[in-house]
Amino acid sequence: MNKEENKQSVYSVKDFNLWYGETHALKDISIEIPEKEVVAIIGPSGCGKSTFIKTLNRMVELVPSVKTKGSINYEGKDIKKTKVESLRTEVGMVFQKPNPFPKSIYDNIAYGPRIHGIKDKKTLDEVVEKSLKGAALWEEVKDRLNENAFGLSGGQQQRLCIARALAVEPEVILMDEPTSALDPLSTAKVEDLIHELKKNYSIIIVTHNMQQAARISDKTAFFLDGEIIEFDATEKMYSNPRDKRTDDYISGKFG
Ligand SMILES: Nc1ncnc2c1ncn2[C@@H]1O[C@H](COP(=O)(O)OP(=O)(O)OP(=O)(O)O)[C@@H](O)[C@H]1O
Ligand SMILES: [Mg+2]
Repeated sequence: MNKEENKQSVYSVKDFNLWYGETHALKDISIEIPEKEVVAIIGPSGCGKSTFIKTLNRMVELVPSVKTKGSINYEGKDIKKTKVESLRTEVGMVFQKPNPFPKSIYDNIAYGPRIHGIKDKKTLDEVVEKSLKGAALWEEVKDRLNENAFGLSGGQQQRLCIARALAVEPEVILMDEPTSALDPLSTAKVEDLIHELKKNYSIIIVTHNMQQAARISDKTAFFLDGEIIEFDATEKMYSNPRDKRTDDYISGKFG
């Protein structure tokens, strides 16, 4: 048995379907998301990438017209039977546009831990430092922790949002095009960070950037019109895709 087969699945999705009213946005999705790897979700606009990752932390349920069928297990348990709050503690999310709170850098990071009842200043200080270090931002902000987060650059704000996600010690980090609003240097920093983070976290990242998917992911899922056309080791998929549609998309024939 090789190493791949030994990997645990953090999510196990079976025959999952999702409708927004009449729109059938996810069709018979079955996928095993491996632990402590980076899975990239690629595919053209409107194919269901954001919908898919928002189902994983049950955020999609906020849309009133949503109906679903099929199952999503997180660490062996049906997510519908898990408390949303505890699921969201274990599954952090980072969005396309950095969305810090209008608070200090320190309070952005301490927010989640405080909600979980941590009040002790020393403990919070430690969480803030550890999270900022984890997001490769500490050196840049350690002397201005009490300044408003909006004073940071876009790339710094995005790393702050990653630090904020890390502060509650999640297992999984979902990222929806986390670098699409960033300049190339900030993008490179976030990509390096993702590479570091996968030692400790399972990461699922939506990206429109095929080179980025190739650089940072272990596995890639190609979505098209609500279906998963292909899911495989990134290297394999880029060098030798099974499906012609994957090949056409990767080689830029549509998208
Ligand atoms: N809140 C919503 N209400 C109704 N339909 C929606 C909603 N959100 C998404 N959809 C529809 O579901 C489908 C999938 O959308 P989704 O946002 O998941 O695509 P995407 O792959 O993330 O696209 P993009 O690359 O543009 O971000 C689309 O047809 C979209 O119009
Ligand atoms: Mg999207």
